[in-house]
Amino acid sequence: MGFSQVLIFGSLVTCSLMGITVLGGDFVRDVDIVWGGDRAKILKNGEVLTLSLDKESGSAFQSKDQFLFGKISMQVKLVSGYSAGTVTSYYVASAGATWDEIDFEFLGNLSGDPYTVHTNVITSGKGDREQQFRLWFDPTIDFHTYSILWNPKTIIFYVDGTPIREFKNMMNASVNVPYPEKQPMRAHSSLWNADQWATRGGLVKTDWSKAPFTASFRNYEARACVWSINGSSTCGRGSSSWLREELDAYSLKRLRWVRTNFMIYDYCSDAKRFPRGFAPECSVRVDAH
Ligand SMILES: *[C@@H]1O[C@H](CO)[C@@H](O)[C@H](O)[C@H]1NC(C)=O
Repeated sequence: MGFSQVLIFGSLVTCSLMGITVLGGDFVRDVDIVWGGDRAKILKNGEVLTLSLDKESGSAFQSKDQFLFGKISMQVKLVSGYSAGTVTSYYVASAGATWDEIDFEFLGNLSGDPYTVHTNVITSGKGDREQQFRLWFDPTIDFHTYSILWNPKTIIFYVDGTPIREFKNMMNASVNVPYPEKQPMRAHSSLWNADQWATRGGLVKTDWSKAPFTASFRNYEARACVWSINGSSTCGRGSSSWLREELDAYSLKRLRWVRTNFMIYDYCSDAKRFPRGFAPECSVRVDAH
């Protein structure tokens, strides 16, 4: 595939007030609503998309394009107030039985109690790589940016530009862990009921008297190599620095700050769940390069 050709998806909107250039997404152009009918709504000429959940159904959308590597970002404002039992997800995934997937899932809670950010990396159909975090802000008051960087070297989860998790390509290291590098992925978002497990392990249920629950999305942006049916892909116009992006010293410091202060679960230290030993990638320290 040629990484030389460049395309950026997202119209250039100059925000003169702040004197900066903002890449604005267009949901009409970029996504398809795939579940929930009119529970998913595209508003403001494609600038905003809302998903809602009621007792009958949740809702979801996915990107029209498929990507083989990219930095995919979305601004999300999560369900506010009583959100227990609900899960808002934002992920990239391929299809088939040995699929690859990189997941953000936001687990709701009782009013005033914190959301849990649940992450996972599934390679060749195998997951069990959960890490969970608290956020350092209330994600229901405003939009915040959640990004998935996926390039040939590494996968990095970002929240407002701060890395919270890294999953490196270890195919060439001594540990042989499959890495997603062959199957194209689509970006997805959904809002659904998961009250059998999401909140306090399923103890707290969705309160349907508070339905419909609504989450909002904007500024979807895919700096990515867009996959086409004939197997070729074209990569972003302009800066394609994301293709080589890795954690620098400052980002590593931020990652350590998140791990120390906000990580609440790590599959790499759950000996009860993995009595016969941890996954091979756990022996590679993620926060030390
Ligand atoms: C909900 O809040 C409780 C109490 O702070 C916390 O233990 C739990 O992890 C929170 N999140 C979820 C998804 O249960």
